Amino acid sequence: MQDLNELRAKIDEIKAEIASGVLGLKSSKAVYEFKKSFLDPKAGKISQLMKEMKNIPSEARADFGKGVNELKNWAGGRFDEMDEKLKAAEAEARYESEKIDITMPAKKIKVGNLHPVTQVKNQLIDIFASMGFEVFEGTEIETDYYNFTALNTPQDHPARDMQDTFYLSPEFLLRTQTSAGQIHVMEAKKPPIKVISPGKVFRSDDDATHSPMFTQMEGLVVDKHITLCDLQGMLNVLVEKIFGEGTTTRLRPSYFPFTEPSVEVDVSCFECGGKGCKLCKGTGWIEVLGAGIVNKKVLENCGIDSNDYSGLAFGIGVERLAMLKYGINNIKLLYESDLRVLEQLND
Ligand code: DAH
Repeated sequence: MQDLNELRAKIDEIKAEIASGVLGLKSSKAVYEFKKSFLDPKAGKISQLMKEMKNIPSEARADFGKGVNELKNWAGGRFDEMDEKLKAAEAEARYESEKIDITMPAKKIKVGNLHPVTQVKNQLIDIFASMGFEVFEGTEIETDYYNFTALNTPQDHPARDMQDTFYLSPEFLLRTQTSAGQIHVMEAKKPPIKVISPGKVFRSDDDATHSPMFTQMEGLVVDKHITLCDLQGMLNVLVEKIFGEGTTTRLRPSYFPFTEPSVEVDVSCFECGGKGCKLCKGTGWIEVLGAGIVNKKVLENCGIDSNDYSGLAFGIGVERLAMLKYGINNIKLLYESDLRVLEQLND
């Protein structure tokens, strides 16, 4: 047992230790640790002192107990006081570091938009869907049969020279035209048929108005008594929706192996209203697409009786429409991903 006087001196010693110790504490965590070293029920210095009670002669016990209790209460007060002070300082520092300068100009968030070719493609899909067309998306790799032979363009047919083809093997190629989709649709579906087939096509061709990869939208309608009148009526609705009210079409004879007769479709110039300008090269008309009545041989290739049914087909160059719509004369502008250009081509 320690001497009673020694224990009383210890109370003063601890008090002095706490009095000077708290002043040096720098954080609420340090206060917690410091407090623990005195008040922890097991190892705390004040708790240890309490445990000495049982060894103290009974006549001195009450007095000693009172002393330790006073120390404990006083120490608790000091710790709380310091804890409060440091917590306030810490909160202040946190607010300071998280302070937001509401006068700072906001960061500009750039809003993206769909590529102009996608916008025109979607617009076409919307228009055709409103006329009851379904969408068939074919594949970019095709066989020679679907891309050419079934479309009445067998090997050695001179019309194959119209399209410079990327062959992957003698049998497989990158489709040169979405017309390949016509065959897939007619093989899978019996008339009445009313589909569009949008997608990428590929040709070894590269200049201001041609790109090795571009977008087409094929259209095919097969039913009883389909004629060129149906084709023109439908195209008139289409061009009015794209180029504005009053725009109309004219058909000129042309040649495609898969249509007979074949036509080239012009729209009345939406820039000058048909009077003649730079855009329409003074003619009042702008060529926009190829079309025709589906060649009987193509229907027969797909097992459709050409005595009962006839069809119309058309192929739209989506980039060409986009270039006309946005007034661009070089197709490369659509593919160079120059934001200064693309930002201007937005509906
Ligand atoms: N496939 C033709 C091309 O790429 C475009 C075309 C013309 C499609 C006439 C047709 C059509 O369906 O009837 O040049």
